[in-house]
Amino acid sequence: MKKLWGGRFTGENKDWIDAFGASISFDYLMAKQDILGSLAHVKMLGACGIITEDEMQQIQNGLNSLQEKLANNEITFTIQNEDIHLNIESLLYEEIGSVAGKLHTARSRNDQVATDMHLYLKETVEIIIEKTHHLRSVLVDKAAENVETIMPGYTHLQHAQPISFGHHLLAYYQMITRDQKRMQENLQRIDISPLGAAALAGTTFPIDRKMAAEELGFSSIYDNSLDAVSDRDFLVEYLSNASILMMHLSRFCGELILWCSYEFQFVELSDTFSTGSSIMPQKKNPDMAELIRGKTGRVYGNLFQLLTVIKGLPLAYNKDLQEDKEGMFDTSETIIHSLEIMAGMIETMEINKSNMQQATEKDFSNATELADYLANKGIPFRQAHEIVGKLVLECIQQGTYLQDIPLEKYQQVSPAIKADIYEKLRSVTAVKNRHSSGGTGFDQVKEQIEKAKTELQIE
Ligand code: ARG
Repeated sequence: MKKLWGGRFTGENKDWIDAFGASISFDYLMAKQDILGSLAHVKMLGACGIITEDEMQQIQNGLNSLQEKLANNEITFTIQNEDIHLNIESLLYEEIGSVAGKLHTARSRNDQVATDMHLYLKETVEIIIEKTHHLRSVLVDKAAENVETIMPGYTHLQHAQPISFGHHLLAYYQMITRDQKRMQENLQRIDISPLGAAALAGTTFPIDRKMAAEELGFSSIYDNSLDAVSDRDFLVEYLSNASILMMHLSRFCGELILWCSYEFQFVELSDTFSTGSSIMPQKKNPDMAELIRGKTGRVYGNLFQLLTVIKGLPLAYNKDLQEDKEGMFDTSETIIHSLEIMAGMIETMEINKSNMQQATEKDFSNATELADYLANKGIPFRQAHEIVGKLVLECIQQGTYLQDIPLEKYQQVSPAIKADIYEKLRSVTAVKNRHSSGGTGFDQVKEQIEKAKTELQIE
């Protein structure tokens, strides 16, 4: 088959070589963007008098008809046409004949592919921003229902101090908020038009790059044509933001998986987000959470793949860059689905409040309370720490807890200890009293929720 670029070639093409060089099997996902880019380009060519009004009209009609056929699933792409750009161009010939050949004036596939990617990512990142916003609101709603739900707070996965479950959820709210902001900042680098950079050096045709950019809804144009066609920073940044986002989802999923276990039983995921076992009838597995955790691997992989592809590339375009797209599509699909599943999973999970609280009642997570109590009575904190450490050791040896120690015994340790210690040792009191700003005290958690609600509404 004759290639659209075949003028200087005499040798034969081999199907298996064509297949190796082709990108249509994945870049067809940018078909809509490719046609939009061409529509803007041709309108600009017409407006600048580079093609006639009539030619412009014919090409526009052809492209519009292709856009419609695409929406109706009536288009077939071929490997012989290599990529989405050449496929669309050759389909345009079928629509309108040889005038189609004027479309590629003052343009190259190099600025074309970059334009498609900027358009694709702009749309995708806007969807991701919506999804992160939704997940944040789900987290805040769940937190609001659980301000006074007491759970063990962990360090080293050992009971540390009791906390509010709402507070725990709001920590994830903060992470996802930063993820959303990173995506918003990323948009500034995505929202730039490379169109008109042509192959690498610009063009002698009197084009109007700003007009084409405005037509496509871009806020600005690249200042340097070499940079325009070879820059993939906006994509590296996106893949890196996506990796951080997945890292957060993965951490949360890891906790959910643990909390669903028989040993914890802190939460129960709804049936929709769980699966059974083909052999063990009793099983209810947190597959969706495990998959989000697992899919984090491919998102990290996509980032490292692209960084590695670009690291040795001379300016400007190199075919290596064709390897930039599969990771972009894969990451986009993965994070959009993960965000949706995460939100659904949190929204519908049952919280076993009594199990959570009970886990803070037969443990030593109130040891800091006792040390703080002594420090409040004027005993230096280090000394208080030592005293409580010894009491904990004794309790462990006797199989009791700090709240079981009789007052007489406490007063032997320090006469400063009064009967009010027992109230202080309750986990709910320990949580309630942490009024320091950003702490887990109920008042602090409520404040965080109010702030989050304002943030969510003003975006
Ligand atoms: N399919 C190519 C890619 O994805 C489009 C650009 C091709 N440009 C070229 N000079 N061969 O990178």
